[in-house]
Amino acid sequence: MAKAFDFGVERLAGTGVAAEAGTHEHSQDGCATGRTFFLETFGCQMNEHDSEKVAGVLLARGYRQVEKPEAASVVLYNTCSIREKAAQKVFSRLGEYRTTKKDGQIIGVLGCVAQQEGEEIFARAPWVSLVCGSASYRKLPQMIAQLEAGNTRVTGLDTDTDETFETEMTRRDNPWRAYLTIIEGCDKACSYCVVPFTRGPERSRASGSILREVKELADLGYTEVQLLGQTVNSYADPTPTSSGRQMRFSELLVAVAEVAGIRRVRFTTSHPRDFGKDIVEAIEAVPGICNHVHLPVQSGSTAVLRAMQRTYTRDEYLEKMEMIRAAKRTISVTTDIIVGFPGETEDDFRDTLRLMEEVRYDGAFTFKYSPRPNTPSLKMADAIPEEEKSRRLAILMEKQREIQAGLMRHAWGRGTNCWLAGNREEKTSGAGIRRITKL
Ligand code: 5AD
Ligand code: SF4
Repeated sequence: MAKAFDFGVERLAGTGVAAEAGTHEHSQDGCATGRTFFLETFGCQMNEHDSEKVAGVLLARGYRQVEKPEAASVVLYNTCSIREKAAQKVFSRLGEYRTTKKDGQIIGVLGCVAQQEGEEIFARAPWVSLVCGSASYRKLPQMIAQLEAGNTRVTGLDTDTDETFETEMTRRDNPWRAYLTIIEGCDKACSYCVVPFTRGPERSRASGSILREVKELADLGYTEVQLLGQTVNSYADPTPTSSGRQMRFSELLVAVAEVAGIRRVRFTTSHPRDFGKDIVEAIEAVPGICNHVHLPVQSGSTAVLRAMQRTYTRDEYLEKMEMIRAAKRTISVTTDIIVGFPGETEDDFRDTLRLMEEVRYDGAFTFKYSPRPNTPSLKMADAIPEEEKSRRLAILMEKQREIQAGLMRHAWGRGTNCWLAGNREEKTSGAGIRRITKL
């Protein structure tokens, strides 16, 4: 949903989210244009942060943010298509926007569904005038200018960009924790995943530019930085060797933590393939780097991992876990698991349950496999029936609940902190831990 009034807006833009409906020819904050925007976001933290940047782009152009779509000159909807359910919501929400649409109002679709559906969105929802995937956000200012100049439809659907989306101003939602994308896109090509299609190829941001922004954030009073990327630890510093030192991901972690005023550094999501001992050593050595790693396993069966094209076996994953568990500081580990991937047998599923028992994750995001357009797994044989996926998911969630209850009892008994206690942004819901965003 739209964010309520927040400090970040004021701090960075000298303006807040307007709670009132209506047009603003003579708005109180002196906004010359009176133009307003409403921005709704679904999906992962990358989407949340992209929306913060989009808001920054609009605020810099004199727009003000409002809480209701009917009060806005521009309504933007940042979408997610990682699973079918999330993608299905988009057109029903666009239908709702149609009913509240005023004359001259611009309605735009951003994010993964925009990238995936492209101009098809205009056909299904002709009241939409902007469609832009995340790999084209760099062009957003020009696209908005075209709409302001009277164009009725604009699109940004290229994924061949080699640049990241950096803005002069980002409107951050949290007064002390700042998200910072260090790598965009994904080159991993897991067979079930739309991300490589919707977010384009991997591209990293230069370490010098990242560190400059972290210093600015510290000067503004932020104390916590969360480094973001679909595969954040695949970071490859593009700094030219002539003008500076290229940093490994672990070195960047340390450098960010060493910026005066920054007290905590988090990072997500890590890919097991690129998770090396140097990252564990950085966590061991620098207290400011949070001792939590999100390391999606997806399945405990080597056969399923191979079909998923995850590039590691069960044993290789468990070796990484051993390395993490051997660290001098206790490191919390969370994961993502998919059940019901095509061809997943009962034995494969049992392997996943056994792996969970072995690792004892502090938290797990668990999903039923959802077939997605363009992905290799879409055409795979031996689809698992929906009821069977639901059965396996329920067993998995129960297993995770037992594990977490045991870990909690242990942690509370010893008065130690744990991942759940240390992450107020996550919350438990029903049978497990869920992201706060609504997928
Ligand atoms: N079906 C179910 N879950 C998926 N994920 C990604 N693609 C799919 C899909 N097609 C899950 C993975 C990933 C998390 C963000 O979403 O577990 O790590
Ligand atoms: Fe998707 Fe795999 Fe890339 Fe993660 S690593 S975004 S699951 S393709």
